[in-house]
Amino acid sequence: MNPVARAEALFRATFGADPARVASAPGRVNLIGEHVDYHGGHVLPVAIAERTAVAVGSLAGRFVAVSEHGSRAEFGWPVQRAGQWSDYVAGVAQLLAAQVSAAPDGLAVAVSSDVPLGAGVSSSAALEVAAAAALASWWGLGTDPRAVAAIAHRAETEFVGVPCGVMDQMASAMAPEGSALLINCATLEVRPVPVAADLVLVDSGESHALRAGAYAERRREGEAALARLRSADPALEHLVDLAPGRLHEVLKSLPAPLDRRVRHVVEENQRVLRATDALVAGQFRAFGKLVDASHNSLRDLYECSTARLDQIVAAARGIPGVLGARLVGAGWGGSVLVVVVPGRGDDVARRLAGGAGGRPNAARRVKVGYAATVNR
Ligand code: GLA
Repeated sequence: MNPVARAEALFRATFGADPARVASAPGRVNLIGEHVDYHGGHVLPVAIAERTAVAVGSLAGRFVAVSEHGSRAEFGWPVQRAGQWSDYVAGVAQLLAAQVSAAPDGLAVAVSSDVPLGAGVSSSAALEVAAAAALASWWGLGTDPRAVAAIAHRAETEFVGVPCGVMDQMASAMAPEGSALLINCATLEVRPVPVAADLVLVDSGESHALRAGAYAERRREGEAALARLRSADPALEHLVDLAPGRLHEVLKSLPAPLDRRVRHVVEENQRVLRATDALVAGQFRAFGKLVDASHNSLRDLYECSTARLDQIVAAARGIPGVLGARLVGAGWGGSVLVVVVPGRGDDVARRLAGGAGGRPNAARRVKVGYAATVNR
């Protein structure tokens, strides 16, 4: 059964009634453009085929959320942050309830998902966006995908308290079927970009215990660099607005490690634009080289890789048919994306799973999916 049918069945079994709405949303894999979304840069994610479904209905005076893994969260209404998975739904519900004139006084939720957890494919954004699409539709707030992404992003930053950029929620709410989505994170303009290369994802299996603290530290470093550069150039809005031609000179004015962080952000943003042109022109080798350069920069300048991620990248790069490989998402664990000559993806996934690089890897071919939908 697909997650939508499973969420509906779980809702009925738990609450003894049909859900009022069911919506589903995908996880994402970012092809290139890492750690630039919160600096106003460009990113190029695809939706993956795996989706999370959220079924919702009325419940007087309480918030009850169940997941198909047997977890049940029960709170009063309005619901407070509890430090667990249900916060992603509760955050969206609180923000949307504030926009409804006859405010709801409770909520029943059932969640079902095929999106792997902790693998760097943004299971949290899939959950938030599916919840936002279901509730906004049910409560008559419309399902404009930009508004859905914005509510999901606010739930993550304001309610859950993770200072992430807008990429994951935008990708889950808006990525077109079968294509990547070029997002300008400063203006939120989007453009579909065809992806004909095969994609393989390798899960490092590393926990992301480090990730939250390190991510926030990188954001602080970026803000500190921007504040310094603004004292010389008050008109500078985002780090990505630094002209690449002036970068060398600008970096000399920054102390380490801020110089490395800024260099990554500016060059990574340029790589996204060049990678988009390469994909549009069908130049897979050029695209693969940019993917490789992205990993090297994340490893050496942004310092968010791990020995295990580097080992998987090196193993992948040694396999015939591989065009490029890099860590995806925030880093410090998660997954490696391997870009492969069209038609060779299954073979490369098999070789990585079979122990290329000295040990078996959790490798699988990525199927490109599509944005959030209201299913019922
Ligand atoms: C996480 C965040 C995104 C983005 C990436 C790094 O996935 O949620 O907003 O910053 O890290 O590119």
